[in-house]
Amino acid sequence: MIDLRTRYLGLELRTPVIVAASGLTRSADAVKECAAADAGAVVLKSIFEEQIEAELASGEDAHLPGRQLPEAYDFIKNHGRDQAVEKYLETIAEARAVVDIPVIASIHCVSAGNWTHFARKAQDAGASAIELNVFIPPMDARRTGAEIERTYFDIAREVHHAVSIPVAMKIGPYFSGLSNFAVNLSKEVDALVLFNRFFRLDFDIDRMTLVPASMLSDPSEIEMPLRWISVLSGRVHGDLAASTGIHDGRGVVKALLAGANAVQVCSALYENGLWYLAKILAELRAWMESQGFSSIDEFRGKMRQLGSSDPSSYERVQFMKISTGIE
Ligand SMILES: Cc1cc2nc3c(=O)[nH]c(=O)nc-3n(C[C@H](O)[C@H](O)[C@H](O)COP(=O)(O)O)c2cc1C
Repeated sequence: MIDLRTRYLGLELRTPVIVAASGLTRSADAVKECAAADAGAVVLKSIFEEQIEAELASGEDAHLPGRQLPEAYDFIKNHGRDQAVEKYLETIAEARAVVDIPVIASIHCVSAGNWTHFARKAQDAGASAIELNVFIPPMDARRTGAEIERTYFDIAREVHHAVSIPVAMKIGPYFSGLSNFAVNLSKEVDALVLFNRFFRLDFDIDRMTLVPASMLSDPSEIEMPLRWISVLSGRVHGDLAASTGIHDGRGVVKALLAGANAVQVCSALYENGLWYLAKILAELRAWMESQGFSSIDEFRGKMRQLGSSDPSSYERVQFMKISTGIE
């Protein structure tokens, strides 16, 4: 018997594959479909910090504390004030009522403002955990790396303080000292999700305008989370979830071998439909069977860097082998 159970955020997941925050998890009905497809958990589509702050502010021109991105607030003021907070809390409660898998609420945020009290409301509505998708693009030349990193810590502490349920933080890879930052950040949250996928831009050279690049990842993008999870597994406090570029059962196996407690999948399900989750899980089961593993704990982290006999040269050796072989 193959046992696919895993523990993530102190929760027992019946399978290690979580449906990532996206339109696939936008409603209780959508969450029900994910559960029927054997997802281990779902992360609800995010509510934006700006939506929460906009509802907290009483008048149109009210001062919005913690305001980092005025354009985002203006956008929300015009498009997103439709009782977003209440609807989000309802979705949490409805989703929890119709499925028996963990339902993780998600907040997309850039600062530790007044909105952090919302995390408590999400807990009271029944959220099993909170995932903070922190997205602070390091494009403002006036903000130092240290300032940006401090904001991540502030958000983590404020939200952790507000709730008693587990808190995960989904971050990007763009930090100058990623290992040190991730280890320190992991002391403030219960799990790190590596990585979120920055909104990507492209140029339309005929119209000379900016256009969004592909919203969906491709399988080669797994290389980034794979490298960092294998580096950080055993070094961070708490759990790790892999996100970005996991498109099949092999990707799930790789992330678990690197040391992930769970994986999050999004683009592959958009491309193929939710039924594809069954295929991913069947591939994982088949691989475990072929290797003689009956549970995930038997192989999780087997390929992490910490297990290597010489961790410091691990990557350099790989590079040297490849570069000396190519003329
Ligand atoms: C259409 C779409 C909507 C998304 N919405 C959210 C969201 O609300 N919150 C969030 O944290 N991530 C969101 N994401 C990012 C995904 O959760 C995930 O991190 C990203 O797509 C990388 O995983 P993948 O390679 O499996 O697609 C969205 C992605 C897509 C494609």
